[in-house]
Amino acid sequence: MNPLQTEIVRLKKDRNAVILGHNYQRKEIQEISDYLGDSYGLSVQATEEKADVIVFCGVDFMAESAKILNPEKTVLLPNLKSVCPMAAMVDAAALRDLKAKNPGVPVVSYVNTSAEVKAETDICCTSANAVKIVKSVPDKKIIFVPDTNLGLYVKRFVKDKELILWPGYCPTHVNIKVDDLKRIMAEHPDAEVLVHPECTPDVIDLADHAYSTEGITRHVVSSSGKEFIIGTESNMNHRLRKEAPGKVFHPVPFATCPNMREITLENVRDSLVNLRHEMSLSEDLISRARIPLQRMLEAGR
Ligand code: 13P
Ligand code: SF4
Repeated sequence: MNPLQTEIVRLKKDRNAVILGHNYQRKEIQEISDYLGDSYGLSVQATEEKADVIVFCGVDFMAESAKILNPEKTVLLPNLKSVCPMAAMVDAAALRDLKAKNPGVPVVSYVNTSAEVKAETDICCTSANAVKIVKSVPDKKIIFVPDTNLGLYVKRFVKDKELILWPGYCPTHVNIKVDDLKRIMAEHPDAEVLVHPECTPDVIDLADHAYSTEGITRHVVSSSGKEFIIGTESNMNHRLRKEAPGKVFHPVPFATCPNMREITLENVRDSLVNLRHEMSLSEDLISRARIPLQRMLEAGR
């Protein structure tokens, strides 16, 4: 551990705090995280957390979800620049307009949305359970926001429902291009290809599997394969190397999420010293946004 990491560990103890980190965090942040996972796992962990303070090393919607699911806790986001651009692609007013044009049609929202959008939502999903959640909705027509690519991925498995998709996308995952992936596949013909369902359909077509970040981790640990091409944010490879030492991981080019990288050891330390930046949502918003999140957690991974 470097001196800053040691200082953070001490501060964490003084504050009775816990660090929840997403799989895309920088290596040095992964090393000081008490729990590392995907959006689904982090939501479950947030509901179970006993510490007084949760330092959330991820992006804004993840910290908001932790606050919504465990409002008694102080939830801190170390850097307010750590926002998810895809979550910002849909707002509550625009979603209300779409609902007004499609009366009675239920809304499934990816967790990559603001609390206000969740408050307009029937049930949330993550990349780990999107297919299961959409199948669980009895209606034949569903509004699905904001990730078009995740929606198109879900449609592969749910043929009997019409999804009204939103034109949102992840700037990091749409940067993963078929030509780059084909080149890496030609260089490593024995490697299994694992991608995230936020990738474009042509990239998913080339892959052996599309999984959430935790799904990718589980797969590489349990697979008899020794070599993997990882089609998602490149920091993911730190987690994979730790969980599956001895296996080889090939990142794809240009797959970085600058927003996730806004969290640094310095701002985590400052966050613990000054108890900032505290997630603060009105009681009314928390109670409305919690319903679709809890429905998702009840449905499971
Ligand atoms: P996971 O839930 O798979 O970790 O994905 C979150 C995310 O933001 C992907 O870009
Ligand atoms: Fe948002 Fe994409 Fe970054 Fe995930 S990788 S936090 S979806 S911008």
